[in-house]
Amino acid sequence: MTTQILPITNESLELAKQLLSNGQVVGIPTETVYGLGAVATDSLAVKKIFEVKGRPSDNPLIAHVHKDYDLTKLVEINHPYVYRLMQEFMPGPLTLVMQSKGVVCKEAVCGGDTLAIRMPSHEGCQQLLKILDMPVVAPSANLSKHTSPVTARHVYNDLNGLVPLILDGGKSTGGIESTVLDVTGEVPRILRAGLVTKEMIESVTGKCLIAMHKEGDKVKSPGVKYKHYKPNCQTALFTEEQIDKVNLLYEQALKDGQKPYIMCRSDLIGEFKGKNVLDLGKTPKEIASNLYDKLLEGEKIADLIIAVEMPNEQGVYMGIMNRLRKSCG
Ligand code: TXA
Ligand code: MG
Repeated sequence: MTTQILPITNESLELAKQLLSNGQVVGIPTETVYGLGAVATDSLAVKKIFEVKGRPSDNPLIAHVHKDYDLTKLVEINHPYVYRLMQEFMPGPLTLVMQSKGVVCKEAVCGGDTLAIRMPSHEGCQQLLKILDMPVVAPSANLSKHTSPVTARHVYNDLNGLVPLILDGGKSTGGIESTVLDVTGEVPRILRAGLVTKEMIESVTGKCLIAMHKEGDKVKSPGVKYKHYKPNCQTALFTEEQIDKVNLLYEQALKDGQKPYIMCRSDLIGEFKGKNVLDLGKTPKEIASNLYDKLLEGEKIADLIIAVEMPNEQGVYMGIMNRLRKSCG
């Protein structure tokens, strides 16, 4: 199969609509990361997503809908705070897990009784969802375990020959996947941290829990238990207090004939003068937006990425640290 990358135009959106309606999977832009989309009610198409990615069959997918879509066609909304969250953060990088009404095919939810829903704010993605007028399930458009893509070219590098079309909607501005929030209970619970932070959710609901997952637990959001986001090169991870260790490992790698790169936020770059650096940027938002891009750049040019952790886990740093541990830890 040849894989086309097309910019978003009326024609390419129409082509994407045709392909999706005919059971194909298509690479689509969102404001967080690129997705691999299929019509959510089409079992065969949804199975293709799992095949193309090599995704474990117990890891359910997020249904993406247009901003004017009536969610109650797909799920039960059980608590008043859910409407307030929707009002405040949708469309945007927030995914809500609710009781499914069983409209979306069972392959998409892996036989479970909940459904994760999100309204992407990306303009091109909104246009596609509007003309298609059906929910689209879409995991990140990378091969399973690899780093999530934030450009159409990243998607192509993983899925060339496996999908007919990738819609190019520019670089994803968010840069890390949506916050996944379980809203089936009295108090919302974060299953995956992201750009809509615990603090932001608390400002609307008063309380917000964070799901803790230990190795081997039967977890509520299966995706979090897998190895994830790994670039195709060696990695190491140190805290900001371990700058000496970063420098030692860097020197050792050079001696061993390797090409090391240090990945850190801009404020630390002064500690690594004369060394190869992948600069993540200054603010938490900037860092999130650059993280996967830098990991994917790094795997091309480095044998070893030595990453430095964030200074704390407040706000957006929580989501960033979660990805850093999984990609480089
Ligand atoms: O930003 C995003 O969320 C991107 C873009 C493409 O929208 N999508 C994405 O999908 O990251 P994926 O499949 O890579 O990650 C979905 C996460 C997984 O951790 C999965 O376990 C969790 O959401 N999830 C999906 N459905 C769920 C459900 N019913 N209950 C609990 N967790 C669920
Ligand atoms: Mg993913």
